[in-house]
Amino acid sequence: MLIKRPADIKSHEIAEPALYRDRRRFLQQVTSGAALAFAAGTSSLLMLAEAVAGRKLDYRKNPQLSIDNPPNSLKDITRYNNFYEFGTGKEDPAKNAHTLRTEPWTVRVEGEVEKPADYHLEDLIKSSQLEERIYRLRCVEAWSMVIPWVGIPLADLIKRFKPTSRAKYVEFTTLHDPGQMPGQRRAVLDWPYVEGLRMDEAMHPLTILAVGLYGEVLPNQNGAPIRLVVPWKYGFKSIKSIVKIRFTETMPKTSWALAGPSEYGFYANVNPAVDHPRWSQAKERRIGEFLKRKTAMFNGYTDEVAGLYTGMDLRRNF
Ligand code: MTE
Repeated sequence: MLIKRPADIKSHEIAEPALYRDRRRFLQQVTSGAALAFAAGTSSLLMLAEAVAGRKLDYRKNPQLSIDNPPNSLKDITRYNNFYEFGTGKEDPAKNAHTLRTEPWTVRVEGEVEKPADYHLEDLIKSSQLEERIYRLRCVEAWSMVIPWVGIPLADLIKRFKPTSRAKYVEFTTLHDPGQMPGQRRAVLDWPYVEGLRMDEAMHPLTILAVGLYGEVLPNQNGAPIRLVVPWKYGFKSIKSIVKIRFTETMPKTSWALAGPSEYGFYANVNPAVDHPRWSQAKERRIGEFLKRKTAMFNGYTDEVAGLYTGMDLRRNF
């Protein structure tokens, strides 16, 4: 995401010293006991994050709801990320997200709902049918990636939470903990990150809450332990590390729409005909490729989702 703000910082300006970034070099160079103790703490966190992320999931493939583009490599998917809570550079999340503790994890469900509660993520996963869906993630920055997600259809969860008839929207909130998310110590966005969907978008069969990719638990940098994936919308709708789901009568105030109202709308449907004020959306670069491809309306899902927006001016509701 790119936005003109004085607070917008480049990755090289993020606080971590260079040595801290390169763990191996750091370990070779430390001599003092205090530094060794510090290094041990850092590496055990890293090992914990890696152990959780590598865990296999039990899921079924859903080829009907998957695209047939070849997925990007695990390396691309896990080393080129947007997750400002861990820095604004594309490589920052992979370097920094090991400080996020994803177990135990609770998701609070509240608002216009008959069953508000704190749900343990473990229980939500155990009681759900996980599916693998291969989707293209089209970022508003005009790059894309193909990712084999493993997730829970959001509609299945919403039915269990039983929203009231007043619920028109669903709002999602990311963890707010600058101790675990060092990027939140800088006012790059108004933390915590918030996103939202209209109820019919949230209930659409393509919308999932992902808990894994490539058959394993999500790596922290990809939004562990649970993140939204809405494949016909720009990637910024796919909010990561969700701790709260709130059902509301009014349209949620979402982070990017608040930060740059003329640049990022609530709907954020992929639309090659509506340019971002500062760049074209007509084409995209698949990560790992050189030549650009044409961007497809609704990221290729016109047949499935255009009906949700009948009668709406998609230039105004961008
Ligand atoms: N969620 C949170 N909490 N913070 C973020 O900075 N970035 C968004 C989205 N979800 C972001 C977020 C953007 S701009 C994109 S393109 C996708 O995550 C990137 O997902 P990926 O890193 O798994 O490819």
